[in-house]
Amino acid sequence: MKPKILVTREVFDETLGYLAQHCEVESNQEDTAFDPGTLARRLAEKDGVVCCLTDRIDAKLLERCPKLRIVSNIAVGYNNIDIAACTARGVMATNTPGVLDDSTADLAWALMLATARRLTELERRVRAGEWTGWRLKQWLGVDVHHATLGIFGMGRIGQAIARRAAGFEMKVLYHNRRRVAAALERRLNATYVSKEELLKQADFVVLQVPYSPETHHLIGAAELRLMKPTAILVNSTRGGVVDDAALIAALKAGVLRGAGLDVFENEPGLNPGFLGLDNVVLAPHVGSSTEATRRAMAMTAACNLVAGLTGGTPPNLLNPEAKKR
Ligand code: GLV
Repeated sequence: MKPKILVTREVFDETLGYLAQHCEVESNQEDTAFDPGTLARRLAEKDGVVCCLTDRIDAKLLERCPKLRIVSNIAVGYNNIDIAACTARGVMATNTPGVLDDSTADLAWALMLATARRLTELERRVRAGEWTGWRLKQWLGVDVHHATLGIFGMGRIGQAIARRAAGFEMKVLYHNRRRVAAALERRLNATYVSKEELLKQADFVVLQVPYSPETHHLIGAAELRLMKPTAILVNSTRGGVVDDAALIAALKAGVLRGAGLDVFENEPGLNPGFLGLDNVVLAPHVGSSTEATRRAMAMTAACNLVAGLTGGTPPNLLNPEAKKR
């Protein structure tokens, strides 16, 4: 008998096709997010789940799903999954690293460029008929080229962001839990500095750390005050890494120049303070959202799940201890 699985949100036809070769699939192609009670009911008899960052997989849910053997997240970040609770119950958890690095780095760069050159503000002005002709001092932005880029979190995506900086002839600083290998630093032309130095020196601060209790409000009022008043903050990792209320206050007070944001606290809710600000560029958590990358993420998640349910080791297993149980 094929294992039974749930796919919690809409995926691509080829993803479902592959899953159906190996599993009995129940899928939510209507794409409405399940509330916790519905998710628990739908999962009660399932062996596996392909889920997204909008699904909370915690101890309470796992208790109601005694047959569950694998949780396969379609995302590189997995702060929506209680990994310790999964491990304790012998449930494997997987994510989709690698396939989204370049697309997510592109989006971080899009936010840097758009914020520096005020693109979304100026588009609003053009649409509102405010553009009456060319002027020398019109709507001036700041240069990205030859500026100092500070990257917080030098994992795969941070490295992809750093690689792109070479073309803009930027100076690259980074901070990471652990310093990366000297050879990699040389390849990326990146210099390791403390958190404080990075905030003080960078013209563009890009956040690429995973969200966890340790990185909750990594950037708050005190950190923002360390930044240059001309600097720009980019968050394309997870809401909660930045204290949104503190950022809004700082942007209003001119503590920093602007911010490019793809992620927010309490998504899709947005602190209304952002909406009145011209010096922010706002995007709806689309870091990895290109056709090719989202297809690759969904297929990676499907392969992880099928490997886990057919006796193999999922390529992106986050908790190998769970498999041993
Ligand atoms: C998206 O935010 C991801 O973690 O893949």
